[in-house]
Amino acid sequence: MASHPTASVRVRAPGKINVFLEVGDVQDDGYHELATAFQAVSLYEELTATPADDITLEVAARGPVDIEGVPTDDRNLAVRAARLLAQTAGIDRGAHLSIRKAVPVAGGMGGGSADAAATLLACDTLWATAIGRERMLALAARLGADVPFALTGGTAIGTGRGDQLSPALAKGVFHWVLVPAERGLSTPEVYAALDEHRERHKQDIFPAVRAPMVGADVLQALRAGDPHMLAESLGNDLQAPALRLRPSIAEVLETGEASGALAGIVSGSGPTTAFLTADADAALELHVALSASGYRTLRVTGPVHGARIVHD
Ligand code: C5P
Repeated sequence: MASHPTASVRVRAPGKINVFLEVGDVQDDGYHELATAFQAVSLYEELTATPADDITLEVAARGPVDIEGVPTDDRNLAVRAARLLAQTAGIDRGAHLSIRKAVPVAGGMGGGSADAAATLLACDTLWATAIGRERMLALAARLGADVPFALTGGTAIGTGRGDQLSPALAKGVFHWVLVPAERGLSTPEVYAALDEHRERHKQDIFPAVRAPMVGADVLQALRAGDPHMLAESLGNDLQAPALRLRPSIAEVLETGEASGALAGIVSGSGPTTAFLTADADAALELHVALSASGYRTLRVTGPVHGARIVHD
């Protein structure tokens, strides 16, 4: 038995909304070039890493999250994150990872990416690897396009696969009402549905798909902290394919927008929908209205910090 001097490390990492997401062409590596504006929101995954001989994982729900089908072996991004860090830093110890999920699974809010980011930070501390921030961000990008953002949090612009980040100036607090779906959607399937649609309509799409860019109106709205302005600028190229794969999202969007939301959008590859409201009171009113229509909602605010160690 190896000795385990360090006590356990607990980390919280946030889910995200893409307030703007433009998808460009598919690249040679199968990923799409994209330009997105991420906002981290106050819905957190909690991860505890405890010294152990091997890398093991258990997953539990924190609130009404359906965790059935979440793998606890090497298919889980958190396990892959721990292995990648150990390998890179030359660590021969293990860790038991315990995740409590609050972010909808396969919901388009980066829950799995938050778990991976939390694992990198927790294991880095547990094992005292001292790899530094830059290398940790590079490892994060190897794990998945959204993992670097889960480390940094706040409001940021993502380019490349979405993993090349630059901070965006953002003022104030935005109030969102989320409607999680009963079942998740597969991100690769949503991208594939977008590709199919573009292929079918390529005669009509002219000029061909342009290089993706986050519009000046989005940046200005974030900088001003103005929800009315941001509501006018929300956009997501993955919304149409998500709606094609899950037509019931349309009704959720319509109900939210008819019940007082400034605007609604599919979050990332969906199927979670996110409604922007004017302030905390308006968010509460929308929550009441959507609940009366039979929808379960979550009220969150953004931006919030990225993955962070929690001291009890
Ligand atoms: O990087 P991540 O594991 O989150 O990506 C999941 C899938 O989403 C990829 O396998 C790919 O099919 C698709 N994707 C993409 N272009 C991106 C990001 C993700 O095609 N920029």
